[in-house]
Amino acid sequence: MEIQYVKAFTDNYIWIIEDENDVIVVDPGESQPVFDYLEHTNKNMVGILLTHKHADHVEGVKELKESYPQALVIGPSEVEKYCDRIVEHGDCFELMNHSFQVLSTPGHTANHVSYLKGEALFCGDALFSGGCGRVFTDDYYAQFETLKIFAQLPDEMKVYAGHEYTEVNLEFALTIEPKNRSIKKYLDEVRQKRADHEATLPTTIRQERKINLFLRAKDLDEFRYLRQERDQFKG
Ligand SMILES: [Fe+2]
Repeated sequence: MEIQYVKAFTDNYIWIIEDENDVIVVDPGESQPVFDYLEHTNKNMVGILLTHKHADHVEGVKELKESYPQALVIGPSEVEKYCDRIVEHGDCFELMNHSFQVLSTPGHTANHVSYLKGEALFCGDALFSGGCGRVFTDDYYAQFETLKIFAQLPDEMKVYAGHEYTEVNLEFALTIEPKNRSIKKYLDEVRQKRADHEATLPTTIRQERKINLFLRAKDLDEFRYLRQERDQFKG
């Protein structure tokens, strides 16, 4: 099994879990990049996993499903209209002979979920490298609890997030902790990768423990402060 990506819009990643002949697609906000990938690799799409309801994560589903009607679409209740199967916290399912576990990860949206498959975490907009999603629900407690779930995952866990926001997240982090050498060093690495047109994802939980201020926030007040400052940050 390998995990690839195609890009969508300006900074979305559509993750593609692939076996020899088949793929599962995560959060296809656009259909065309996925169609191009399937044509190029001559593979069959057997499933779609959705993390949350935002258009840039779901708008490709309808067209993909029309071309691959046998593909199983799985997601939380907030995307029910796209789904063959609704999942919630603690659910497990098999797809393409892989076992997936569902984590409820609300805050960015009310029913946001993430998917664990072995040492891979598909977390949509609940966690980014160096950051986390904007709290559109205003439920800061929910998002803070979600970050605690991520913080308990193993160091080796690879984090496949929904957006390429790493550079601006680290620039923000340095405004809060200007002397943090881990963040400075990682920002240098990230800028080099971006200059080389490489993705900065997946990251790992180990790396995020070092550089993600949101994941490290010690209480709800600190998290709320960081998130509100981040909302104002223009980069
Ligand atoms: Fe989102």
